[in-house]
Amino acid sequence: MTPETNGRTQVHAAPPKREALRVAAVGDLHCRAAPNEELRHLFAQAAQKADVLLLCGDLTDYGLPEEAKALTAVLGPAADLPVLAVLGNHDFESGKEAEVAKILSDAGVRILDGDGWEYRGVGFAGAKGFMGGFRARQLQAWGEAATKAWVKEATEEALKLERALARLRAPTKVAMLHYAPIPDTVAGEPLEIMPFLGSSRLEEPINQYGTSFVVHGHAHHGSAEGRTSKGVPVYNVALPLLRRSAPAKPLFRVVTLHPAEVGA
Ligand SMILES: [Fe+2]
Ligand SMILES: [Fe+2]
Repeated sequence: MTPETNGRTQVHAAPPKREALRVAAVGDLHCRAAPNEELRHLFAQAAQKADVLLLCGDLTDYGLPEEAKALTAVLGPAADLPVLAVLGNHDFESGKEAEVAKILSDAGVRILDGDGWEYRGVGFAGAKGFMGGFRARQLQAWGEAATKAWVKEATEEALKLERALARLRAPTKVAMLHYAPIPDTVAGEPLEIMPFLGSSRLEEPINQYGTSFVVHGHAHHGSAEGRTSKGVPVYNVALPLLRRSAPAKPLFRVVTLHPAEVGA
């Protein structure tokens, strides 16, 4: 604390007051090119109940520019919040992911793709992630070139997340993904598709960098909560899951970081 002189009296400047940070997260909006009143309402509520909004991929249904424009048209007052997003597999479907990302960026949405962003002493690291399965049963780079290419993609996405986390200087770190990093939050999905819902390669950097919590989407029929092998909370915030599990509540999850976890 630095003393300041006010005429005859030394005044000690009060330290900046720390306040809780309310982080809202939702994924799998699957916005189509039509007016979407559900999303308009969701964003209006987020603007009231959160300080930061995280969008966890599958923002559009077919990855079309007109769908991205429809999404930006309903952002409303949420556009005044910091809105961070990662893309999901649906946003790549039409091969226009760069155009989709630009439309969202132009509307003020920060797209994280191996990047981090800090706000009020909290660091947010984002990457899409990829599939490949979990833990001892995950796909290994062995055999056909196509199999190796698949594993390479999963490894590169995990490296993106690691790079983003490593660059954050904030002591409190939050990771956002589209694909799941652990099997717990995909539990409930058909066994046959489990390896396509996420990758344990994403779990390693989350554990390594002392992440406070993780949010992801993609597993529409998965489970809402789980923990990494080191106990980091993981939340599946896929909109269809939130819609089903708590229809009367806002269609996003709010995680509150308490003042001690938030910088000035
Ligand atoms: Fe989805
Ligand atoms: Fe998805």
